[in-house]
Amino acid sequence: MFRTRRLRKSEGIRRLVRETKLSIDDLIYPVFIEEGKNIEAEIVSMPGIKRFSLDRISKELDEILFLNIPAVMLFGIPSNKDDQGTETWNDNGIIQQAIRFIKKKYPSLYVISDVCFCEYTSHGHCGVIQDDDVDNDATLLNIAKQVISHANAGVDMVAPSGMMDGTISMVRESLDNTGYVNLPIMAYSVKYESAFYGPFRDAADSSPTFGDRKTYQMDPSNRDEALREATFDDQEGADILMVKPALSYLDIVRDLKNNFDRPIACYNVSGEYAMIKSAAEKGWIDGEKVMMESLLSMKRAGADIIITYFAKEAAKFLLKS
Ligand code: PBG
Repeated sequence: MFRTRRLRKSEGIRRLVRETKLSIDDLIYPVFIEEGKNIEAEIVSMPGIKRFSLDRISKELDEILFLNIPAVMLFGIPSNKDDQGTETWNDNGIIQQAIRFIKKKYPSLYVISDVCFCEYTSHGHCGVIQDDDVDNDATLLNIAKQVISHANAGVDMVAPSGMMDGTISMVRESLDNTGYVNLPIMAYSVKYESAFYGPFRDAADSSPTFGDRKTYQMDPSNRDEALREATFDDQEGADILMVKPALSYLDIVRDLKNNFDRPIACYNVSGEYAMIKSAAEKGWIDGEKVMMESLLSMKRAGADIIITYFAKEAAKFLLKS
């Protein structure tokens, strides 16, 4: 008889045949930075996650470094919004200040910037509005300005998240033309129009004031289209391809892993974090175990890199085990 249980008999043999391992090296921690002073604000729907002003951020960065988390992904919350999100390319904007500050004080921390407009536009959409919809090509011009401004501030990698067509070509070309040939792009290649972003939009104050994002983010029903999206980004020069959200889209993570010779990232989003946290707070699940099991499932699906609000907690768990 085939006896599969022979290889499960003790922890020793289980360790030897274990196929997937999660490592601190896989993790990126998202950080919310708000313009202003003396801000350290709990995000109610994301227990344990805060918005910081720059003067209060050091404690958080010290901890990230201590836990050996390799990278952070920055989200800015500006005090001024307008219809184009012009703050995104202000060389003294909150993200630009944050990049300069972190690269100066924490040079070994790898800094990735989210490149989008929704936190910066008065209407909350990810670009320039024309006839009640986001104008793709007008937005591309602004993306170029934003990316150059982040590059000038010293960012290590840019991650355009707006789902405009032609983004990666535009970003690659702009970076190359300004001398940033070695600055990589992590493309939000397959970003679904998802209700799992709810808590993030509260945290970043980025909900659209009218309509939704269905004309630019992907329909959750579609799988073949995900390959199309990723193919464009791959051909346009993305260095890393990302799927977002993660847990309900692990089939897509595996599709990308099987079809592209690029590192694959997934974004374990705010709603996924909130669900586990709230059930754990009620005592309905073991929060730590469910966290580790779900992060492991992302790796098993094929993610090389995981962007997660659990990064600090997972790192603590991995350090003690
Ligand atoms: C867009 C952006 C979003 C997230 C990251 N970048 C949200 C959106 O499309 O509304 C969501 C992240 C999360 O839910 O954790 N700038």
